[in-house]
Amino acid sequence: MQYIFANWKMYLNATESLALATTLAPTTLSSDVECAVFPSMLSFCDVEKTFRGSSVVTGVQDVFWVSKGAYTGAVSAQMAKDAGAKYALIGHSERRHIFGEKDTDLSKKIQACDEVGLVPVLCIGETKEDLDSDKRQYRLKRQLQESLEGKNFALPLMVAYEPVWAISGGDGSRACLPADAEDVIGWIKQELKNFSAESIPVLYGGSVTEVNAKEYLNMPSIDGLLIGSASTRVESFTSILEILS
Ligand code: PGA
Repeated sequence: MQYIFANWKMYLNATESLALATTLAPTTLSSDVECAVFPSMLSFCDVEKTFRGSSVVTGVQDVFWVSKGAYTGAVSAQMAKDAGAKYALIGHSERRHIFGEKDTDLSKKIQACDEVGLVPVLCIGETKEDLDSDKRQYRLKRQLQESLEGKNFALPLMVAYEPVWAISGGDGSRACLPADAEDVIGWIKQELKNFSAESIPVLYGGSVTEVNAKEYLNMPSIDGLLIGSASTRVESFTSILEILS
């Protein structure tokens, strides 16, 4: 199975999200491709309805771990599941670095996803500072350990490797070349064996476009892509889906 996940972040308002979903809904995908769209919370319900019965599924960009209560501004894993989400991004770099999420929070979010039957997509990635000070593996190992340790890994889980320095819109000054991403993802897969006997799909994300997507998808360890800004441009995103058709 190859995964093409579209993280619309806060790029599109409700009208724009619905228009893009309406354009994408008739897309036919091969049975070994899973395409999921992660719209903003505000547009989630409309987008989910638009994709119902199509080949595209939906996910949310974040969840809170308590199912219900006095938590202003939060949306729980249970609520996302009830609204039709299949996946939840957990610990996206922007959640960690802008909103201050800690690995210990992510551990609770993964647990909450498991309890309601949402598939968590744990996002990990080192900063440019980590990279420059030779701390890439150290950072990734810690992120995995602190959010996964003690879990019962019969549960479904996915991981997205997104080097912070390669994400567009951040300090995205450099690309993580496909061969580099392949090496790191191969190493992450070895590390994941410490947590689960199951094979856990690992996606790559960070400045993927229609120009470079094929090179990442051709790499044997990379199970798919988590795409941000290019997934909000209809021509770019459909060109990426066409690579796998
Ligand atoms: P980008 O974002 O494709 O715009 O670099 C990827 C992500 O942050 O998920």
